[in-house]
Order: sequence, then C-alpha cells, then structure tokens
Amino acid sequence: MKNVYSNIYSFNKKTLKKSVNSLKLGNIVSLPTETVYGLGGNAYSKTAIKKIYEIKKRPKSNPLIIHYYSFKEANNDVLLNKNFFKLYKKFCPGPITFILKKKKSSKIVSSASATLNTIAIRFPKHRVVRTILKSLNFPIAMPSANLSSGLSPVNPLDVYDEFKKKIKIIIDGGQSKIGIESTVVDLSGKPKILRPGIISPNQINKTVKIILPKRNLKIKSPGMLRRHYSPGLPIVLNQKPSNDKHAYIIFGKISDNRVNYFNLSKNADLKEAAANLYKVMRKIKKKGYKKIFVSRIPNIGPGIAINDRLRRASK
Ligand code: TXA
Ligand code: MG
Repeated sequence: MKNVYSNIYSFNKKTLKKSVNSLKLGNIVSLPTETVYGLGGNAYSKTAIKKIYEIKKRPKSNPLIIHYYSFKEANNDVLLNKNFFKLYKKFCPGPITFILKKKKSSKIVSSASATLNTIAIRFPKHRVVRTILKSLNFPIAMPSANLSSGLSPVNPLDVYDEFKKKIKIIIDGGQSKIGIESTVVDLSGKPKILRPGIISPNQINKTVKIILPKRNLKIKSPGMLRRHYSPGLPIVLNQKPSNDKHAYIIFGKISDNRVNYFNLSKNADLKEAAANLYKVMRKIKKKGYKKIFVSRIPNIGPGIAINDRLRRASK
C-alpha cells in the first residue's frame, strides 16, 4: 500500500520486485538497515555509483560500504582472512563493517572505493535489505541516506526529509533499531577500529586483538576527517543543565524536566541513547532551536560511539 508520501513504500512481494528491478537498471533505492537507512545502488555499475555520489553530494575521496548477503558473495571481491572469519562468525549479519584488500578480479566499480586497494564490506541484518540482497546477483553499494556531512536517517520520513522526491523508491522498514552507523574495523593490516559503533572496541578485542584507542580515537577512514553527522547547529559538549533557552540533550534520570530538555535515555541505558541520538537531534532542528548543549555521556561501550558522533557534529 502507498503511503501519503508517494515514494515511500511498505515492503511486500510487489515492492520487493520493484526495488530489485530498479537496482538492476542502475537506479538508486533507499533501504532500511538495522543501523541507519541507506542509499543503495549496484556496486558493479558505474552509472549507479555515479548517481550515489551526485545525489548525496559526497566528495569523491570518500569511499562507500559494499553490502553482501553472505561471505560467499564477498569472496568474489575481497581477500577474506582469518580475523575476518572470527568476527564474521560472532557478529554477522549485523552492525559491523570490515576493511579488506581488494581482489584483482573484483568487479566493484573503482570509484566506489575511491580508487583505494581496500574495500569496506558489510552484511546487514535487517530483513528487508537481506531479502533484496538474496534476490540480486550483485552487491549493493550503500552509504547512509543523507546529504554529505548531515545526520543519518533512522526512518523513511528522515530519508524523505533529506531528498524529498529525488529518490523514487524509499522502502519503509520501520525505525532503525540501532540508530547509529556500523562499527568499521580495518582488517587489511594490523586490526584497528576506524569508526566506533554499537559493537564496542572491547567486544571486538575479545575475538580479535585490536590496537585499542587511548582516549580520543584518531580516525583515518577517508570520510571521517571533516565535520560529520551534523544537524547544522552549533553543539556544545559536556555541559551542565542551565536555565537558558537552548536545546539540551541529557542522559539519565533528572529531577527537573523542561520542554527544551531532550533525554536520550531516562534509564541511563547507552544502547537506548545511541538509538535515540539522531532522532533527537533531528527533532531539535525541526523545532527551530539555534544551539544544542549536551550533558556528559559516559565514554564506555556504546557511549564511545555516541561521543565520537557528538564530537564530530560539534566541529
Ligand atoms: O551502518 C552503516 O555502515 C551504514 C548503513 C547504510 O550500512 N552505512 C554507512 O555508510 O554509514 P557511509 O558511507 O555513510 O560511511 C562509510 C564509512 C565512511 O566513513 C568511509 O570513509 C568508510 O566507511 N570507508 C569506506 N570504505 C573504506 C575503505 N576502503 N577504507 C577506509 N574507510 C572506508
Ligand atoms: Mg554517512
């Protein structure tokens, strides 16, 4: 059935076929994943990749993540190693991305990986994207479905917010459960984390020894250098609640509740806070606030990823 927004579709046999055909023709479709919504295109098609970069206004130097149904398909394009299989067994399908060396025989369009000799691969868990991947004979290149440097969308209306009718098909897969982007682990050399996510450095370190970041993670993923994940408002971190009129993002129980207070998790649950982060920032922006203050978020587990995104958004 069609939604009031004529390009947002619920998922059924008909819209599965529609999405698959569209992807086969080299068009771009917005798909739900468990982390955030993506802009998907055929990773083996030059036209599709070109469209993704154009629609997102993404700098060519920032490579895309390639999504597969299973390691068997990924094996055509990248060199899978021991560390990969350990983490794959533990966490996949799920919110984790691996950087691996590209195979010479790989058919991935070179501009999709910004002409690097490595490729980022991921096996998303969401039923919709998995069903679509299973129906295709090519992988899907899929960045988050937002304009470059903005907030990642976590439901179909957020995607509509970003691109209006520019994307012909947005599949409604509900609210993204995790709500922040996948953990990116570089396995092309000594294992290390390039982007923290809901799967924490400590969790990964239990399976594969990684170089654990000291305090502030220095990121060397090409796209992680500049301002990112930004709602387009000034953000000030580690603030105490005060009386002024700015939006205030808080965490945990607080006795004083005001209209300009936005709680990421009343139960001080960091997973819940991560799932609410982009939702809350988008809401604050829509309400017309001009500045955001954020209270201190514990820098453990999912808190590492939350603080990483907040730091980047505040640059
Ligand atoms: O959860 C996610 O990962 C979502 C969903 C849609 O799957 N996707 C996502 O894609 O966040 P994107 O394009 O917004 O972020 C991809 C990140 C960028 O920071 C990019 O620089 C990095 O992965 N990346 C991609 N290929 C890389 C490579 N070969 N080496 C290092 N970093 C890479
Ligand atoms: Mg992104």
